[in-house]
Amino acid sequence: MSNGPITSTIHTMADVWEAYRDELDGVERQIRENLDSSVTLVNTVAAHILSSGGKRVRPLLLLLSARLCGYGGRDHHQLGSLIEFIHTATLLHDDVVDEADIRRGRRTARKVWGNQISILVGDYLYSKAMAQVVEFRSQGINEVLAEACTKMAEGEVLQLYYNGNPAMPEADYVKIVEHKTAGLIAAACRMGGIIAEAAEDKQEALFRFGQYLGIAFQVADDTLDYTANGERLGKTLGQDLRQGKATLPLLHLLQHCSEPDRRMITDRMETRTLSEADLDRILSLMAEFGSIIYAMDRARTYIAAAQHELELFEDSTARRALAVAADYMITRDR
Ligand code: IPE
Ligand code: IPE
Ligand code: MG
Ligand code: MG
Repeated sequence: MSNGPITSTIHTMADVWEAYRDELDGVERQIRENLDSSVTLVNTVAAHILSSGGKRVRPLLLLLSARLCGYGGRDHHQLGSLIEFIHTATLLHDDVVDEADIRRGRRTARKVWGNQISILVGDYLYSKAMAQVVEFRSQGINEVLAEACTKMAEGEVLQLYYNGNPAMPEADYVKIVEHKTAGLIAAACRMGGIIAEAAEDKQEALFRFGQYLGIAFQVADDTLDYTANGERLGKTLGQDLRQGKATLPLLHLLQHCSEPDRRMITDRMETRTLSEADLDRILSLMAEFGSIIYAMDRARTYIAAAQHELELFEDSTARRALAVAADYMITRDR
């Protein structure tokens, strides 16, 4: 599908998935094709997570960005699969760092095979992606991906630095989120512009679009950690606080609740314990002080900034799909 003619059939995220299903199937085929290690265990572990139902948000954004800029080629299948490899590598590492037992409704690779395997297969997927990316011989793509990976590691380290600290400034929370999540999403969007050979101002607009959208995506994720249906989310609820991580809704609550409640929350962050009753209490405090609403309002502001970046582009099916996808980042329930 090209970026035109304009159809008025794209209103919901289901319409987007439907309209670009063939493209996304191409990405899936490429993902399977790239899992070709001669070490069978590498393929087994990678397939465990890669075939467990990820949303494929980053490949989708890459291909929509490419189509937005008039791209008619097929490189986006391979590049989409490689960006998903990188994302998957970060999840394998992240689940070790966060001691997560469940992801996408399945036992995490670290629970099945152990932390060491999870880290090493993550390393493999990173390296494999980079080895394939350089075959495109595009300095622009190499630079944007290398920068995103560097920023991701910095974001994860800064987050660990603040672990257990209820007094993290909100600006540093935004810095963490921008680095650990938004960088790769922004790279995906810019890569779409690069393969379409879009003008520099368009590439920059796509990068900013991804950056704003990526921040909102993670804020929504941090809110879902408190509010989601656990089964639908496929992850354990309350895991952030249980791991000593203060995210936006909790930072807001800590600034507004009573001193005894603040002490209770701080204690749970420090001792890394959180019962169901604690989580219920915190959720009702968040309702009382509007912490979830506050966080989602912040996310909405970032989405509005992202939508603004699309104004540089003329109307097309791809632009409408990107606008719908941007809204989905904060309305999703998984
Ligand atoms: C999970 O990303 C990690 C975050 C950056 C919040 P996704 O929500 O895109 O995860 P999958 O790939 O769909 O499972
Ligand atoms: C995901 O971060 C990993 C990166 C963005 C590098 P989180 O730890 O916040 O996400 P989930 O909740 O485990 O998916
Ligand atoms: Mg994490
Ligand atoms: Mg995690």
